[in-house]
Amino acid sequence: MQNFITLAQIDEVVQVIRRQVSIQPVVGIILGSGLNDLADSVQKAVRISYSDLPDFPVSTVHGHAGRFVIGELEGKPVLLMQGRIHYYEGYTMGQVTLPVRVMQRLGIPNLIVTNAAGGVHPDFQPGDVMLITDQLNLMGMSGLNPLMGPNLDEIGTRFPDMSQPYDRSYCDLARKAAGDNKITLREGVYAGLSGPSFESPADLRFLRLAGADAVGMSTVPEVIIARHGNMRVLGLSGISNKANLDGSTITTHEEVIEAGKVITPKVEKIVRGVLNGL
Ligand code: HPA
Repeated sequence: MQNFITLAQIDEVVQVIRRQVSIQPVVGIILGSGLNDLADSVQKAVRISYSDLPDFPVSTVHGHAGRFVIGELEGKPVLLMQGRIHYYEGYTMGQVTLPVRVMQRLGIPNLIVTNAAGGVHPDFQPGDVMLITDQLNLMGMSGLNPLMGPNLDEIGTRFPDMSQPYDRSYCDLARKAAGDNKITLREGVYAGLSGPSFESPADLRFLRLAGADAVGMSTVPEVIIARHGNMRVLGLSGISNKANLDGSTITTHEEVIEAGKVITPKVEKIVRGVLNGL
């Protein structure tokens, strides 16, 4: 039997954060693998370790710190997650998405979600950034939807619409920010799998046929929870490796972290441009 997150649990975390932070963030930002350095650009930063929050999951993955960083980016009050929680770490879907619930109860209306992903689209190259225009909820299709269990009626409806997981006007802002900075912005569908094993060539051919342009091990549950609470979402994938549909090369976590060094400055410029346009 899965333990589902309750409103009281979420609000306990919210209270601890409120005691340490006086600003009201307007944007929540989740940093993906290899993209953690973005948090170092936050001004007037207050840092709160996940381990100091009641019943909060702790990120166990190399390349992920484990704290909230609250402060200003481009003059906008933001709350960053430096280190995300993944389902493959052994946490429940409720724990994986607890940070987004906390953002909602803190009154944060916007979410920018970033990740490292394998490029399934044949034209995508390592180091590219992809604007996520839609998502394939493969975890949910196999019974792992983060909304399973009692509905939190105070936050959203039992059967939330998912016709626009990624906000179209935010997509336009990201396109403009990329153009202003002469960054080529790819676009496409992100497929979310549980991981932690990378995909087999047959998995990847299946994903391509299903319409995926990029594949990763996160994001989709967080975006479903965000939309349940009516947050507006922007999604960016850093393409860290080419998904290998014929099995001729191997994929490693080290390569994912390494690619983050090229991707971080691009993602930072796009995020800054979007924040400016909000
Ligand atoms: N597959 C799944 N997740 C990933 C990949 C990949 O190729 N690259 C980075 N995250």
